[in-house]
Amino acid sequence: MHLYPFIRPLAFALDAETAHRATIAALKWVPPHRPPNLPASLRTRVAGLDFPSPIGLAAGFDKDAEVPEQMLALGFGFVEVGTVTPRPQAGNDKPRLFRLAEDRAVINRLGFNNQGQPAAFRRLIECGPSRGIVGVNIGANKDSADRIADYVSGVRAMSRVARYLTINVSSPNTPGLRQLQDEGALRALLSAVAEARDPKGPPIFLKVAPDLGAGEPEQIVRVAIQHGIDAIIVANTTVARPALKLVSSEIQSLMFGGLGFLKFGTCLLFELPEDIQAARKWLAAVMPHIAFNDGRRLVDKRAVVTLALGARGLQRLGLPEQGLATFPFAFLDGMTTAARARILGDVDRNASERWAWGRTQPDVALLIYGDEQHFADELAQSLTDAAADLGMAKPYGIPLKMVSDGKEEPFGFVDGISQPVIRGTYKGLRKADPIHLVEPGEFILGYPDNRGNTPPGPTLPALADPDNQLPLVGAVGGFDKAVVENERDIGFNGTFLVIRQLEQDVQAFKKYCAQEARRLADRLPPPYDITDEFIAAKLIGRWKDGSSLTRYQYESRIESARRGLVQVNETVRARTSAQAAIEPGSSSTRCDKTTTTTFSPTQTPPQLGFDFFRNWRF
Ligand SMILES: Cc1cc2nc3c(=O)[nH]c(=O)nc-3n(C[C@H](O)[C@H](O)[C@H](O)COP(=O)(O)O)c2cc1C
Repeated sequence: MHLYPFIRPLAFALDAETAHRATIAALKWVPPHRPPNLPASLRTRVAGLDFPSPIGLAAGFDKDAEVPEQMLALGFGFVEVGTVTPRPQAGNDKPRLFRLAEDRAVINRLGFNNQGQPAAFRRLIECGPSRGIVGVNIGANKDSADRIADYVSGVRAMSRVARYLTINVSSPNTPGLRQLQDEGALRALLSAVAEARDPKGPPIFLKVAPDLGAGEPEQIVRVAIQHGIDAIIVANTTVARPALKLVSSEIQSLMFGGLGFLKFGTCLLFELPEDIQAARKWLAAVMPHIAFNDGRRLVDKRAVVTLALGARGLQRLGLPEQGLATFPFAFLDGMTTAARARILGDVDRNASERWAWGRTQPDVALLIYGDEQHFADELAQSLTDAAADLGMAKPYGIPLKMVSDGKEEPFGFVDGISQPVIRGTYKGLRKADPIHLVEPGEFILGYPDNRGNTPPGPTLPALADPDNQLPLVGAVGGFDKAVVENERDIGFNGTFLVIRQLEQDVQAFKKYCAQEARRLADRLPPPYDITDEFIAAKLIGRWKDGSSLTRYQYESRIESARRGLVQVNETVRARTSAQAAIEPGSSSTRCDKTTTTTFSPTQTPPQLGFDFFRNWRF
């Protein structure tokens, strides 16, 4: 019987790391038993070791040698424990392991979390003569002053309990570690290892990264052979990210649909301090509150943030000039240059001089949402306090107001903005009408658009990302091409966000629609019927009941149903309006601006790929 279909829902109910820990804990209860007899045809001899099967368990699953025997008993031909470092270390901050369920893959940013070599040593020695081949993968502590010394001590400490040792210089999650693959550094490392190893000790393997430059594989093999390395393990995890499926955990929740279930909110515009460290410190305080992933997963949060940064904001956070120069002009210019103002109609009565705010591009815009007003207010206050502590000015606040519970715009429409559904999002996966589906690249940077092209996003040269923290531009999986020198993608999983506060003069709108309906009444032949509502729908982008203009060209869906032209059953209608309620545009439904007297637009720039910020050391 296959257990996986039963276990999977349980495991997926937990976050990836908790599920991993729970699996190890469960395995510990399994009494050790003999590994199964594997077919003789699977036997493989490498470096003097007879492996019962070439299929083994790679390093990283059993980092602390807690269950090697249980894993061998499951039928693996060998188990590699580790990576273990000389001293215990906590690894990177959580969350640091992310499932890409659709890709059947994970993003791993663990960073050598382990209990240290002495703990693994004690466990392995207790195992007694191993029931199979257990290799030990060794690494260096992140804060080590002498990484080579760490490998040397690892060789000395773990040889006794390892059937083979792996020198791991290929983890992408310990900054700078992979530079040990560079020729000079590798020579120094492998000479020290060769000197430290016991000639009667276990064979030593070298584990390399898949993301190597032209000529590097040959160079590494040459140096490895010269220093008596017994085998090479190809390869560790890649830093390349094929842009096929959405990396939802890095995309802000707003992209998956409006946060209509968090009904209360406020928008705060901040100016960042000139001191980079202070600016980053404040961003670090905001980070835990930013809502990522599908909003349905925010159930445990009472208030969340959507963050957007402007050009100067990025600069003040330390984005190098060469990176900033790769942003589109519209973003860099903002909305107030003469050309943009003409395109956007921000002239005369609507000219920027008359705006309530936004005459200069804000550094940061925070959209704060809460399921009760006081939760939103409390979060706004705590982030404002954090800013004040760092000497930042009080933010400009634009409170959002509840319009109605009936999800209607002040104009009387179910939803004012036509909402496409992004392929690969929750809504795109669940019975979305194909007519509304668009490719992620239409909205989210780093993905192909409807024409299969990946639109250009902001980038940095490889040299500006020495620790290889950022994904590569247009990276595809595969080891056939050198990618290390590729440009880095700073926009990946980000989007551009424009915030404009508009006057909604309901009476003037209605008057205009009536006037135009009269003027155009005889322009189009039946079945067109040019009514006030027809004009309004054309302006708003939907019929009053929320139905699509593309599918209902002549009258709204409900009107069609009333006349017996289409059948509308109530559940379908209920779903349509419920969907409308969670679509991104619906966030505007709670914002009643009928009282503002001027047009007050502004632009705030993109939400960037959050890797970039996550990896800045604050
Ligand atoms: C969650 C996770 C943790 C890992 N930890 C380590 C590690 O501590 N040391 C190491 O050498 N490799 C580590 N790896 C890399 C794997 O050992 C393996 O080389 C990599 O996943 C590529 O193999 P695959 O294509 O079969 O996944 C880890 C991989 C994952 C997914």
